[in-house]
Amino acid sequence: MGFFADGKDHTDFCAIFRRPLSPEGIAALQPRVAELARRLLDDMIAKSLIVDLHDDFALPLPVHVISWLLGIQGDDFITLKHWSDELMDNAFGKSNERFLEVYAGICAFFDQHLDARYAMLTAAGVEEARPEHVGTVLPDDWISDAVCADYLGRKLNRDEQRMALMGLLVGGNETTTSLITNLMWRLLEEPSRWEQVRSDPDQFIPVAIEESLRFDSPAQAMFRTTLCPVEVAGVEIGPKQKLMLNFAAANRDPAAFDDPDSFRLDRDARDLSRRHLAFGGGPHGCPGAPLSRMEVAVVMRLFVEHLPAATLAGPSERSVGYNMRGRSQTADQSRLLNVVAQERADVVAEQDGLLQCGKMPAARHLGPRLDVVDAFGIGARGHRIEFTGEQGGARRYRETPFKRPLPHDRAIGPE
Ligand code: HEM
Repeated sequence: MGFFADGKDHTDFCAIFRRPLSPEGIAALQPRVAELARRLLDDMIAKSLIVDLHDDFALPLPVHVISWLLGIQGDDFITLKHWSDELMDNAFGKSNERFLEVYAGICAFFDQHLDARYAMLTAAGVEEARPEHVGTVLPDDWISDAVCADYLGRKLNRDEQRMALMGLLVGGNETTTSLITNLMWRLLEEPSRWEQVRSDPDQFIPVAIEESLRFDSPAQAMFRTTLCPVEVAGVEIGPKQKLMLNFAAANRDPAAFDDPDSFRLDRDARDLSRRHLAFGGGPHGCPGAPLSRMEVAVVMRLFVEHLPAATLAGPSERSVGYNMRGRSQTADQSRLLNVVAQERADVVAEQDGLLQCGKMPAARHLGPRLDVVDAFGIGARGHRIEFTGEQGGARRYRETPFKRPLPHDRAIGPE
């Protein structure tokens, strides 16, 4: 269903929400993002000499942008951000109950907004929502798209509407926050890097962004289910097996990148952007990549201009999220222009060698997909994950590394 569908169902679904993520959409959005970034920067600097880049800047920026695109007005974005974080926090096993509560809360929130759009159509005498009502009778945003789009000869049902809006909300939030903070942390960690970026922003901002995506991938891995038997790096994998494709590990693959465990600004930005897997790949590759890249490029320009003397004010802490690489939401706010202290980039939550997938509601929604395997011949290395049976009400899976040594079998950090 929705983003988790495959083939034409998936392509047509993604197309409904693509307009603001197209080159024209991104270009139109850029001045607004620049204005927002400038305002957040001014507010942050006005607070104190020692500021918290994560809480005061990197966190609010993407959620504001996603709220505009969704069509959420006013302070509702704060609720959304809170929910989005809680959803991610609980999505991978921490609390299934809380995940379902938060999921229900977000559904109810989107339901209100969707219902309001139907009421607007009715008030305007429209009996059936049509695509041309977006930007005319209704505001031009994703909530209106979800109401008006034609999809496979019908309208989206409520589950599809909710899921699309939730996917866009969650997808574009913590990831972009992490990219901003991971990137600044790497540049300030070694001041000569920051010097270098400042010396030639046109050349080094794009490299720095792509290198950060490669080196500190904000979303570390994603799942696929095999449709048919496949062999990956000498390991036979049967059909209907869940795979966790470890994009972060692929991004540190010595066979793919020279000196993979070093953050380097002498790489080629275009080459990196074509080859790293921070945005996944294949038909399910991230549709929000151009938006994030634009946001972070705007931010870096601003920082180069207005924070030339930025330094780290002390250590920070890395989020303990199962799949996300960035800074903790609950970090001590008393310090720094800083960001992440990434102790380890272990991306697989192991328990006695077993991967506990029983409390992983998100996994239920993952339709069969194998496109990264197809697209990259599983150059995206990962672990094989096999269902080993039920235990105490939880589905348990065995996790076996593929035969070739994997970059993430070593600790990636502390640097
Ligand atoms: C630095 C920022 C971002 C990173 C690192 C990131 C990363 C990813 C990754 C790894 C995937 C999975 C790809 C795959 O399975 O092959 C993904 C999917 C997705 N992302 Fe992003 N993302 C970012 C920003 C965004 C933004 C800004 C949006 C929304 C505008 C977004 C929306 C989505 C959606 C809807 C999907 C599901 C696509 C599908 O399955 O068809 N992401 N993203």
